[in-house]
Amino acid sequence: MDKIVISGGRTLNGTVRTSGAKNAALPILIATLLAPGEHRLANVPELADVSSTLSLLGRIGCPSLVNGSIRLDTSRIAFSEAPYDVVRKMRASVLVLGPLLARCGQAKVSLPGGCAIGTRPIDQHLKGLEALGCRFELSGGYIHGHVDDLVGADIQLDMPTVTGTENIVMAATLARGTTILRNAAREPEIVDLCNFLISLGARIEGAGTDTLVIEGVSRLRPATRAYRILPDRIEAGTYLCAGAMAGGDVTVTDCEPEHLQPLLRKLEAAGCTIDTTATSLRIRRDGPLKGVDVRTEPHPGFPTDMQAQLMAVLSRAEGASIVEETIFENRFMHAAELKRMGAVVETRGRVATVRGVESLTGAAVMASDLRASAALVIAGLSAAGRTEVLRTYHLDRGYDDMVGKLRGLGAAIARVPDDLHDPAALDEAMGLAPTPGAGSSTSEARATA
Ligand code: EPU
Repeated sequence: MDKIVISGGRTLNGTVRTSGAKNAALPILIATLLAPGEHRLANVPELADVSSTLSLLGRIGCPSLVNGSIRLDTSRIAFSEAPYDVVRKMRASVLVLGPLLARCGQAKVSLPGGCAIGTRPIDQHLKGLEALGCRFELSGGYIHGHVDDLVGADIQLDMPTVTGTENIVMAATLARGTTILRNAAREPEIVDLCNFLISLGARIEGAGTDTLVIEGVSRLRPATRAYRILPDRIEAGTYLCAGAMAGGDVTVTDCEPEHLQPLLRKLEAAGCTIDTTATSLRIRRDGPLKGVDVRTEPHPGFPTDMQAQLMAVLSRAEGASIVEETIFENRFMHAAELKRMGAVVETRGRVATVRGVESLTGAAVMASDLRASAALVIAGLSAAGRTEVLRTYHLDRGYDDMVGKLRGLGAAIARVPDDLHDPAALDEAMGLAPTPGAGSSTSEARATA
């Protein structure tokens, strides 16, 4: 396995491009199951979760070809099943439930179970699909779903779940009659999924509001003209936080500034200057960071997927910041690791109090999930000395070439094998000048990126 090493203290300067959004790409890849034929998708990020999704679709019987854009053939479905070994690695696999039921009348999907950030039940997915006529049984850790006649319904979600909304919308596109989905999630990724479905011939109104009206159609056609996945607001936001933390002058291009408003307001309040164009954001920080309070909420509130990264920034901000996590019950695992780097964070239930410190110190840290890993990388960029972030596979799930992108901004960062400990080799991998008299020769450096 690999780890990420960072030598902190450099400011970041330059331009970084935003990749396609993970949380739009996954449902859109899976939505292709609804329309038999060959689909083309563009701006799909290179991520482990995308590979896992393609491999799941391959097991279902839908082969794909990745060559810049993605070609996916959903003409034939051989198995309507998402097995445990895929679902346990990637919860989003549960999204096959709606499309498989709509297309095949049956689906068998492993129950996802809990994960590092919370228990994350899928009762709302099932409630919505049941309202459309599906029946479910649980046995052997699997949900077995069947439907004879998918019929539109009036559904009220108990909370605006993102993938729950997506599962229900996908199934409803092929139901007989009209579905009204109330208290639906409004995230930009859901709007992108709806736009994709509309491009296949679905009839959906209200995307981006809390009420979706879906008029079922008898069939959908494949996306033969490459559908372009929207930019990843969380990735863009992560590089803005990196710029805020390290200081300097960073421009994030190919993004959708409107989708980042809640974060931009917090970064400005924290003392950063942000310039916006139609598709880019430039962040600069000359003075010290200032503490701000933040509360995560469903879109258009502050996203839970940016909470860890902002907490890393706040760990060096003057004064105290209160961070409240309202979406997931256990999403403060990064706090304990940030503390190992010298941050002062006290967590009580869903509230964390962060008291900014003058400096962090590099340490070996281990992340529990994707965004926690990103937070630790951000902390490492401004920590004195060397930080090693273990369990790189979390980052690989959701960040397309994070190391390359941060290097492009001037960070001293590298991805190296876990067992590489020689200080000189690590410095060399990070592109630092060798320390006179220290350690091993050039040939021993084994950076993998
Ligand atoms: N919930 C239920 N019952 C349900 C569904 C959700 O109680 O049937 C609860 C969850 O336990 C949670 C809350 O509702 O407390 C919101 O969860 P939601 O269902 O909206 O989350 P998700 O759909 O499982 C997506 C993203 C997450 C992101 C959340 C919140 C994808 C593939 N995943 O998850 O992304 O944090 O929405 O915005 O879209 C990430 O990218 O790092 C990530 C975790």
